[in-house]
Formats: sequence, structure tokens, C-alpha cells
Amino acid sequence: MLSPVSRILHPGLRSRLMSADDAARLIHHGDHVGMSGFTGAGYPKLVPQALARHIQQQHDAGKEFRIGLWTGASTAPELDGALAKVGGMDMRLPYQSDPTCRARINAGEMAYTDIHLSHVAQYVWFGFLGKLNVAVIEVAGILEDGRLIPATSVGNNKTWLDQADKVILEVNHGHPLALEGMHDIYYGTERPPYRKPIPMTHAGERIGTPYLHCDPTKVIAVVETNLPDRDTKFSAPDDASRRIAGHLMDFFQQEVKLGRLPAELLPLQSGVGNIANAVLESLNDGPFTGLQGYTEVLQDGMLALLKSGKMRMASSTAISLSSEVMKEFNDHLDFYRDRIVLRPQEISNHPEVIRRLGLIAMNGMIEADLYGNVNSTHVMGTRIMNGIGGSGDFARNAYISIFMTPSTAKGGSISCIVPMVSHVDHTEHDVQIIVTEQGLADLRGLAPRQRSRLIIERCAHPDFKPALLDYVERAEAAGRSGQGGLHTPHLLQEALSWHARYETTADMRPR
Ligand code: COA
Repeated sequence: MLSPVSRILHPGLRSRLMSADDAARLIHHGDHVGMSGFTGAGYPKLVPQALARHIQQQHDAGKEFRIGLWTGASTAPELDGALAKVGGMDMRLPYQSDPTCRARINAGEMAYTDIHLSHVAQYVWFGFLGKLNVAVIEVAGILEDGRLIPATSVGNNKTWLDQADKVILEVNHGHPLALEGMHDIYYGTERPPYRKPIPMTHAGERIGTPYLHCDPTKVIAVVETNLPDRDTKFSAPDDASRRIAGHLMDFFQQEVKLGRLPAELLPLQSGVGNIANAVLESLNDGPFTGLQGYTEVLQDGMLALLKSGKMRMASSTAISLSSEVMKEFNDHLDFYRDRIVLRPQEISNHPEVIRRLGLIAMNGMIEADLYGNVNSTHVMGTRIMNGIGGSGDFARNAYISIFMTPSTAKGGSISCIVPMVSHVDHTEHDVQIIVTEQGLADLRGLAPRQRSRLIIERCAHPDFKPALLDYVERAEAAGRSGQGGLHTPHLLQEALSWHARYETTADMRPR
């Protein structure tokens, strides 16, 4: 049994205790480093900062020092921020959301490979990304036999521990020991052609073990910390978020009435950000009970649903909470441990499982076009915001795939419904429902020309409606006069002119 004072029970690993600075010096220029961390949860907190200091010293001495950083998803200022600040990464994958990191990527100072979160682990097993040299993994404790108690996220840790030549462990005394037993690490994955079905038929099913395995001979350093995860703050739902949530509640009720959803709905996937959180808050005030979550990130709103009893259980790969709600979680861990399962992201985001369970996927977006193509990642087509994250894993395989956004951005100067998206993450084939505060467009079964009218009518802001309608009518007229087709009518010279106008005038509104 672990006690609060002794979290490293394996004698061999105890003997590898050292300072974060000493551990960081075991990482070398050019290494591929796999770090734990998923949406600000369960990331190493001291080694990355020590590594950033070491890199800065090397740069000051005129030496080159950059690593390739692989994680689960976004981390925090202590990791992405610290390494980006010193120019310590030559490449980063997958999802990130750090402002300094984003600025470096958009300035062309580092490479960013934005891949579906379910693909990352298998790409590493396949050898597509090269050799993983070092893993730096935060854990809550180490058992006598070397098994690891995971922290607040699982992410890609199983794969990093398995694939890396060398392992550095950060044992964080700040995580409650009562986390033990909440995780479910599935070790049955294989490379093709030896794959078998993932044996999961309901969202709460446990198919693995609560512990991460690690070959103790690979562990080159153990570092102790006592620091909290990033405080993932959510703003109180604004009017637009509340209206988006309201449209979705009406839609769910209608689908239940039509017999297309059961009364307790289907397992919910909820994306990152304030709108997703607002929708979960509305579900707490709504008529649905017996809900389940099958998601990749468990935010404040989902914890509130578990607390109220409206949600029976939630499966995730990370718990990403505000500090206030984290306190509630820590204070009642026995209650939540029975209701939350934390899995590797290759399982939380597995297309096979998502399709089998029949999820309701709800994700944010930057913009959608008249035909239902969605841009989740790029501002004005060229500047990355965060990344695709798990949205593609869920959208393509869900029972119902929903994308939501306010109808305008930047004080009304940008329309989030545009003639043609400036970057495509989710094609029209993966997008079923679009929601803005103006309304909800149900695109299921509609042909492109039917979709465009519905999206304009239901989702566009009144300031942009006439211009969108004008665009569609002229594109259709051009098609009728033989200039282009009438299946998905466009005016190719004009399709991206709204974005071009914004780039020169900081305003998309028609003049
Ligand atoms: N053009 C330019 N900027 C836009 C925009 C548009 N059409 N739409 C939104 N933005 C900007 C906002 O102004 C805001 O910028 P700011 O931070 O400088 O104010 C920012 O994008 C975030 O927008 P917000 O309305 O606050 O939405 P959000 O917090 O719900 O985030 C995404 C929206 C798309 C950025 C976010 O959902 C995301 O990263 N999605 C991709 C990953 C994903 O879906 N993961 C899901 C699985 S967990």
C-alpha cells in the first residue's frame, strides 16, 4: 500500500531519485521526447522547465539544442510554454493550445504535425514517426513491482513507456492517492494483421488494468513534485452559448420524440472550450437523466452532471477542471472513482468503439461553409489556432456529429458561416448538425443545394445573411448558364474573397 509519504515503493526506482535539473540533462539535442499530458492534465511539471533552462544555457553557449516533442494533447505553460519560449522544439505533435507555441508555429519557427489523436500511438508503433528516445511521464505513485499509478490523464503514456528507450518519471505528490483504481489501461492492441476487436460494448466497461506497465531497467531518473495541474478556467456561459445549448436541447428532445434517440440519449462526447461546457451545463438543467459520457476530456460541466446524478458514468482520457471544481473532485474521489473511467487516448478516441457505442459528438469550430464543410483549426486559412484534436475521430464515427460556434467572431466583423471554408478539417460528409446562436441546421440526408439554403436560414447572422444568399443565388445562376456545375455551386473567383477582405480591412462585412 502506498502512503502519502512514500509514493515510490520499488527500491530500484527509489534509488534513481534525482533533481529535475539532473534528469533534464539526460535529454539530448535531437531527441524525440514523449511527454505525458492531455488538455492541461497529468503533464510533467518540473523536468520540462528544467529542460528549458538547460536548452537556454546551451543556446547562450552557442550550441544547437532542440527536441521533437510528442504529447497526448495540449499541456500547460510549464511544458509547451517553457519549451516554446526558449525555442527548444523543432517539431511538435499532436494538439497544442499554448499561445507562445502557437506564435512560433505561425511564425514558421517550428514545425507542427496536427494529427488525429487516435492515430498518434499507432503511428509510433508503426514506426511512421521515427524512434522515441525518451519518455517523461507524470504518475501518482510507483508500486513495489514497478507498476505505475497514472495521474489525471492517460493520453499516450502507455505507448510512450512501451516505445521509449529511456524513461523519466515525475511522481507528483499533489495528486490524490485515491486516483488509484480509476484508470483502465488496455494492453490488447496489436499492429495489423494481428488486430482483434476492442472488447467494449458499453461506455463504462473496464477492459484493462488500473496500472501502467514500465520496464524498470529503462527508468533513468525519478523526480518528485508536488504541484497542481493547470487551472482550466471556464467563463460563465454567455448569451450565445446559452442559445446554442437551448437549440441543442430542443433538438435532442425532438430526436427522442421521433424515436431516433433513446430517452437517456446516447453517450456524449463533448469537445474543448466554453461552448461545449455551456451545453453540458444546460443538460444539467434539462429533462434528460441516465446520461453517459464517452469523451476524451472531462470538463467542469461533465463533473457537474455526475455530481447531480443526471449522468451515470463518464469515460475519458483526461480530467481537465478548474481549480474550484478540482477541489470538489478531490474531496469526493470515492464517489467519482466509481463513475469515471480514464483510458488511453487510443481507446477513448477509437473509431471502432465510437461507432459501436453510437456517440453524440459535439465539437466547436472556427467556421463552416454553405455546404457543411468545417474548419476547426485555421484562422483565415493560414494561421493555426489549436489543432484538430479528437474532433475528427469523433465526427466521422459518431451516431450524430454536431459542430457549434457563435455565428460571428471578433465583435461581429467575421462571419463564421462563409461561402467556402478557408481550411477543411471535417468535410461535408462528416458534418450532420451545425448550430449557432441563430439556430440549428439539420443537414442529414440533404443534398448540397438544400444544405446551403438551410444553413443560411438557420445559422447565419442577419448582418451576413443577404450577402450569403446573394452568393448562393449568383453561383446557382452561373451554374444554370453553364459556368460551373449545379451540384455544389460556387463562384470560384469569389469563394474566398470574404477572408481576403478581412485580411486587408479587418472586417468581413460586405461594403
Ligand atoms: N475567424 C477567426 N477567429 C475566430 C473565428 C473565425 N471564424 N471563430 C472563432 N475565432 C476565434 C475567437 O475569436 C477566439 O479568439 P480569441 O481567443 O483571440 O478571442 C478563438 O477563436 C476561440 O473561439 P471561441 O468562440 O472562444 O470558441 P471555443 O473556445 O469554443 O474554441 C475552437 C473553438 C474551434 C478553437 C476549439 O473548439 C478547438 O480548438 N477545436 C478543435 C479541437 C477540437 O474540436 N477538439 C475536440 C475534441 S476534445
